[in-house]
Amino acid sequence: MRPAATVPPADAQACSVDAAWRAVLAAARATERMTQDGRAETFALDDSGRLRSVPPDDPAAWLRWSPAEGWATLVRTDAPGYRLFDLYLPLCNATTARPLTIGHLGQSLDGFIATLGGDSQFVTGEENIVHLHRLRALCDAVIVGAGTVAADNPQLTTRHVEGPNPLRVVFDPARRLDARYGIFTDTAADTLYVCARHLMHAGETHLGRAPILGIDEEGDGTAVADLQRLVLARGCSRILVEGGGVTVSRFLKAGLLDRLQVAVAPFFIGEGRPAIRLPAPSALSDCERPPHRVFQMGGDVLFELVLRGA
Ligand SMILES: NC(=O)c1ccc[n+]([C@@H]2O[C@H](COP(=O)([O-])OP(=O)(O)OC[C@H]3O[C@@H](n4cnc5c(N)ncnc54)[C@H](OP(=O)(O)O)[C@@H]3O)[C@@H](O)[C@H]2O)c1
Repeated sequence: MRPAATVPPADAQACSVDAAWRAVLAAARATERMTQDGRAETFALDDSGRLRSVPPDDPAAWLRWSPAEGWATLVRTDAPGYRLFDLYLPLCNATTARPLTIGHLGQSLDGFIATLGGDSQFVTGEENIVHLHRLRALCDAVIVGAGTVAADNPQLTTRHVEGPNPLRVVFDPARRLDARYGIFTDTAADTLYVCARHLMHAGETHLGRAPILGIDEEGDGTAVADLQRLVLARGCSRILVEGGGVTVSRFLKAGLLDRLQVAVAPFFIGEGRPAIRLPAPSALSDCERPPHRVFQMGGDVLFELVLRGA
């Protein structure tokens, strides 16, 4: 691979944040095809936001695909858009055969994602919110728990960034929600509603506009593996589990997350809805310390834990 430092400075300047984001989106779209082709290739970005195959020594080459390593950038580390490649290219490598599930939470220094009453607008700052919208745009599906829909009535769209809206999946095993929430009635994106099969009514197909799917729920809220299977079966290669703490913790405890991103904001909530909760260990040596990466996002710090498939 050509060393990144040989890219001329003029090219580094051309790689703005917006252009890098368009290249990331294009890379994510191309992964399935690149995997099938099975050969290494280098790309520039054309004016319409599409990848254009170029020779490896072309100064406009920004991205390289190789079957062994997936996506890598050739852009200099001091280019404005470099950080986006660093943060998002590892997520672009997912395919339907090698899918990726990533969790994200924004929490206070004392480990809460909302007040006790459910106010979470906003725990983290603007940079992290834009990042969250970018994650949605890269993912085929975004999963939230019923508590998040009840508290936030969220849209789960990509309105702060360029990119497609994901399929919205509401996980409500105990069937606590009704059709009054926007996510079940608006036309911004498709929604799936998932609850315990035994709580579905005879002949029932939809909650509002959202198709209902049933899962076999043992009553302990651990049916997340079935939920993940069901979403993957719809052809999704990247799944974002966006909250809340109960739902992300269920995925983490079940070993279903490939990556977990926790953005920590420098303030205290005091008491509130907790972020990650896992069974108590008897000693610190029982706790895993996964490989991780750290990103500054304004005043917040994002920790990305690489849990599987580094
Ligand atoms: N900062 C962030 O990154 C972030 C992200 C997403 C959400 N949030 C906030 O996190 C909170 C929700 O997270 P969470 O961990 O509590 O839940 P969650 O993971 O979204 O959903 C699962 C939990 O919600 C409960 N639930 C279901 N229906 C409910 C209803 N109608 N009213 C209240 N709770 C209900 C469920 O109880 P059963 O098991 O009994 O059904 C379950 O315990 C909200 O305040 C939301 O604003 C923050």
